[in-house]
Amino acid sequence: MKILVTGGTGFIGSHTCVELLGSGYEVVIVDNLLNSKASVLDRVAAVSGKRPVLVKADVRTRETLRGIFTEHKVDAVIHFAGLKSVGESVQKPLQYYDNNIGSTLALCQVMAEFDVFKLVFSSSATVYGVPASVPVSEDFPLKATNPYGRSKLINEEILRDLFVSDERWHIAMLRYFNPVGAHESGMIGEDPSGVPNNLMPYLSQVAAGKLSVLSVYGNDWPTPDGTGVRDYVHVSDLANGHKKALEKLGQAAGVFTYNLGTERGYSVLEMIAAFERATGQPVPYRIVGRREGDIAICYAKASLAKAELGWVAARGLDEMCSDLWRWQQYSDKSVQ
Ligand code: NAD
Ligand code: UD1
Repeated sequence: MKILVTGGTGFIGSHTCVELLGSGYEVVIVDNLLNSKASVLDRVAAVSGKRPVLVKADVRTRETLRGIFTEHKVDAVIHFAGLKSVGESVQKPLQYYDNNIGSTLALCQVMAEFDVFKLVFSSSATVYGVPASVPVSEDFPLKATNPYGRSKLINEEILRDLFVSDERWHIAMLRYFNPVGAHESGMIGEDPSGVPNNLMPYLSQVAAGKLSVLSVYGNDWPTPDGTGVRDYVHVSDLANGHKKALEKLGQAAGVFTYNLGTERGYSVLEMIAAFERATGQPVPYRIVGRREGDIAICYAKASLAKAELGWVAARGLDEMCSDLWRWQQYSDKSVQ
C-alpha cells in the first residue's frame, strides 16, 4: 500500500511516516517545507530503515498533485499539511483560510480525479471551543474561537459534504488533543521555529537553558491547583492512531470522527513536576496572568477510537517527558 502524506516532514507527519514505514507501507510526502526541514528524512530513514519519497511542493498546486498521482499509485492520503499557530491565525486570517482550506479543496479534487477516496484528516480538539464539561466526546457542540480553529471546522464540514455528494469516500477526521513528546530514539521531534507557544516545547527549552523561565499562565483557573488542565498525548501514539484509521478506512466507506487523547487531564504544575521527575532537570517557572483565549480544562473521552479503531494511548507522562528531553538534547547539538 502506498500512502501520500501531506505535511509529512512536520512534527506529527514525520512520526506517522516512521509508523507507516515500520508497518510495511510505502510513503510519498508532499510538503513545501514552510515549517519543517528535508533533513528530517535522514533521521526517519535512520530509525525506520526506509526512506520516504519527498516532493517539495505546495498542496494547493493541483498540477503538482496530478503529477504525484500519475507517477505513484496512491491508495490513501493522510492530510497533515497546514498552518497551526492560533495567535498567528488571528493576525493573518486570510493566509490561514487560504492554506488550510485551499489545500484540502485541491487535494480532494485531485484525489477524486484519480479515483482515490481514502483520506485521513488532521483535525483538532480546538473544534470544541470552550467545552461545557469534561471529558469531551465527539458529539459535543462544535465552535471555533479563532481563524485556525474555524479552518479546522470548515474542513470538517467540507469533508462531510463530500461524502454526502459521493459515497465512495472513506474519510477519518482525527481530533488530536495536545500532541507532545518525541520519537523514543530522540532523533525526531518537534522543531519549532522561534520561541515556542506551546507548553512542552517551551518547558524543555527552559530546562535546556535556552530560555530562562517558564511563564505559567494563571493559577486562578477553576482546576485543582489553579493552573490549566490538558490532555497531553504522545506523538508516537498519535502516529499509531493514523495507521489504525487507515486500517478502518480499508473496511468501510463513510465519514468517521475520532478523538485521540489519553482521557487524563494534567495541570501545568503537574507537567512541570513530571518533567523534572523524568529528566532530573529543574524547570524554573513563575506565575503570570492568564493568556487570552485559554480555557481552564480540556480532556478527551476516547472510547470511540478504542471501540472502532482498537486505539488507545499507550505512553504515559514519563515517556512523553523523557523522549522530549532526549530530542531536546539531540536537536541542540545535531539538527541544522
Ligand atoms: P507542523 O507544522 O510540524 O507540520 C505541518 C507541515 O505542513 C509542515 O511540514 C509544513 O511545512 C507543511 N505545510 C504547511 N502548509 C503546506 C502547504 N500548503 N503545502 C505543503 N505543505 C505544507 O505541524 P504538526 O504539529 O505536525 O501538525 C500537523 C497537522 O495536525 C496540522 O494540520 C495541525 O493543524 C494539526 N494539529 C496539530 C496539533 C499540534 O499541537 N501539533 C494539534 C491539533 C491538530
Ligand atoms: C493550543 C492552542 C490550540 C491547539 C493546541 C495544539 C491556544 C489558545 N490554543 O492549545 O488551539 O490545538 O495548542 O497543541 O493557543 N501554558 C503556560 N505557559 C506557556 C505555554 C502554555 O502556562 O508558556 C499553559 C496554557 O495556559 C495551557 C497549557 O499550558 O493551560 C497548555 O498550553 P498549550 O501547550 O499552548 O496548548 P493549548 O492552550 O491547550
